[in-house]
Amino acid sequence: MRVAQTARDLAARYALDEDKAYVAGILHDIARDYSPGELLAKAAQYGITVGIWEKYQPVVLHGPVAAAIAERDLGIRDREILEAVSVHTLGSADMSPVAKVVYLADIIEPGRRFAEAEHLRQLAEEDLDRAVLGAMDGTITYLIHRRLVVHPQTIEARNKLLVQQTEKEDGI
Ligand SMILES: [Fe+2]
Repeated sequence: MRVAQTARDLAARYALDEDKAYVAGILHDIARDYSPGELLAKAAQYGITVGIWEKYQPVVLHGPVAAAIAERDLGIRDREILEAVSVHTLGSADMSPVAKVVYLADIIEPGRRFAEAEHLRQLAEEDLDRAVLGAMDGTITYLIHRRLVVHPQTIEARNKLLVQQTEKEDGI
């Protein structure tokens, strides 16, 4: 609920569809309680691509599996909502603004209390892309410090945003 409300607030801030952001926020973790084995089974059942890093760490499948459940069982047809649900954990190189808002909301919702959270909340008020980039940098740094795998999809998403912003700042 906190993610959904935060996503709605961010959508309002950036003149995006608030209802889409809210619905995606409500649905984003509907597959989060499945075990690794269940996630792998559901991914196979729903035709979701399972690469080596998904096999290694099936929890990252809870986004794509949630999107599949939302579409098949809950009748959600909106591509933006489904995409936002699907990529909320890993990000992706071509996220829609609604997907960015949901990704960010998951990290900065009021229940999150990590050191950088307040800084990211401020950034989220000012610049959506810079806030998403900051959130991805923080996630990647956290994973590295804990010696955990960083999924290549997150690296790609982060690199894309970084390059876009560098070009914007350089006026290219
Ligand atoms: Fe999640």
